[in-house]
Amino acid sequence: MIKINENFNKLQASYLFSDIAKRVLQFQTANPDKQIIKLGIGDVTRALPDACIEAFHTAVDEMANDGTFHGYGPEQGYDFLREAIAKGDFQSRGCNIEAEEVFVSDGAKCDSGNFQEIFANDIRVAIPDPVYPVYVDTNVMAGRTGAAADGRYTGLVYLEGNKENGFIPGLPSEPVDLIYLCFPNNPTGATATKAQLKAWVDYAKANKALILFDAAYEAFVQDDNLPRSIYEIEGAQEVAVEFRSFSKNAGFTGTRCAYTVVPKACTAYTASGEPVSIHGLWNRRHTTKFNSVSYPVQRAAEAVYSEAGQAQISELITYYMKNAKYVREHMESLGYDCIGGENSPYIWIDAKGDSWAFFDKLLNNTGVVCTPGAGFGKCGEGYVRISAFNSFENVQDAMNRISEAI
Ligand code: MLT
Repeated sequence: MIKINENFNKLQASYLFSDIAKRVLQFQTANPDKQIIKLGIGDVTRALPDACIEAFHTAVDEMANDGTFHGYGPEQGYDFLREAIAKGDFQSRGCNIEAEEVFVSDGAKCDSGNFQEIFANDIRVAIPDPVYPVYVDTNVMAGRTGAAADGRYTGLVYLEGNKENGFIPGLPSEPVDLIYLCFPNNPTGATATKAQLKAWVDYAKANKALILFDAAYEAFVQDDNLPRSIYEIEGAQEVAVEFRSFSKNAGFTGTRCAYTVVPKACTAYTASGEPVSIHGLWNRRHTTKFNSVSYPVQRAAEAVYSEAGQAQISELITYYMKNAKYVREHMESLGYDCIGGENSPYIWIDAKGDSWAFFDKLLNNTGVVCTPGAGFGKCGEGYVRISAFNSFENVQDAMNRISEAI
């Protein structure tokens, strides 16, 4: 008899964004004439930068000829992209990351979900709350938790974010081995300073722990004093893996390209305490389970680092950040406390009540889709997240509708 992985039974029935999509579809079916404005899932709406499109086209043409055709590429990604990443995103900012430490992939969601596979099942895992649900759910699937009770899984250490700490959780009060951090934060838009990240790096070093740092939104940081990478903190290369994505900075949500940095200096330990290279373990896992991203997509991603590509992604980010500012100012003018939207495309809004009720009210009365904070964890209850990823016209329209309806 084929048996299931019982850990899946501990999970909520469906993934947050699938749940929201279902509610939106129900609403749209019942109200076919209502124009819905989606400010829920962080999905970009603007076209790929011209530089990426040009490189994409050229690479597709290469695939049309036997002489320039590409079959399987290296599982870790082509050198041209790994080198462009190491130089463009790290070395240029003073971080000593080498191309060989970069693993190209099809998404930061997959990588941040899969990375836990290379660690033991009895490690203690610290996860912020509120949080991008992938970190929690993948640890549940792996069997590192007990059942869910009152919005929490037993066995996880929750790092609480709230108004008092500005949604930047403090260090855990009990020892942990694996720590998930995300800055600029999804969902709250909060950003950590260098001093705040340094505290985590020091903690990880002192406890032989590892930080999984999700920097998928780093391009939205506007304040030059804020770190964009954990490797801006001295010593982080020994204790941190970083996830990055082309989804939000260059519009690759539907094109799929991302990468994970696994420094060679990062170490984990065998049951008997022998050090093992995390780079080697991830390389083993990656080469076994993944065949990298298509050649044309990697060429398109490489173009992000060209002079034209850099100018074009900067224009995209400026566009979305104008939306973010507009949303935040508008919601504040309506009397809602907000954080985020200054160095992040997400605005985290105190809904002054139940977050799913606010979501439903917004959808039913205005046709605007947001994301209920409760979907990101217990500490998200009472909040909603509004995303800046849409056209400025739609964002204006959404805010006008909200003003009229609320
Ligand atoms: C979000 O809305 O939180 C993100 O778009 C989800 C993702 O990137 O997977």
